[in-house]
Amino acid sequence: MNRKNFIKKTALALVALEAGYLTFDALKNKNINNGDNQLYKVGRLDSLEKNKIYPFGSAKFQLSVLEDGGLLALSVKCTHLGCIVQANDNGFECPCHASSFNKFGEVESPPATRALDIFPISIVKGEVFVDIHKPIKRKDFQTSQITYV
Ligand code: FES
Repeated sequence: MNRKNFIKKTALALVALEAGYLTFDALKNKNINNGDNQLYKVGRLDSLEKNKIYPFGSAKFQLSVLEDGGLLALSVKCTHLGCIVQANDNGFECPCHASSFNKFGEVESPPATRALDIFPISIVKGEVFVDIHKPIKRKDFQTSQITYV
């Protein structure tokens, strides 16, 4: 096998692996689509640790579990120009122009000027669902945006 074929086969294998992962992730979390809503099943509420951020990048959000157990589903899209933010110990940072956001999605460092979008959360029989159909734009964080049991 020459170098060109090796690179081509490696690239194809990586694409197939990613497609398999996304399919497995979608099936595992069972997206429920009923027209106006597209519910993403996160999992059991009692399996979530407090003061932790869970990435669900394939579903466009990260779940921020606060110290008091409150939940926020924050969009992964930076509100500056739409790059994908990454979670860190304190919240989120954008690799494109260095905006940062706290665990509530509030801007801590510009150039972004408004908080990360959020998605509605519902809890049914101990299962957490995030409606990823339509993100909610917001200027800033308010405690009424947190979901509690
Ligand atoms: S796109 Fe995130 S800071 Fe510019």
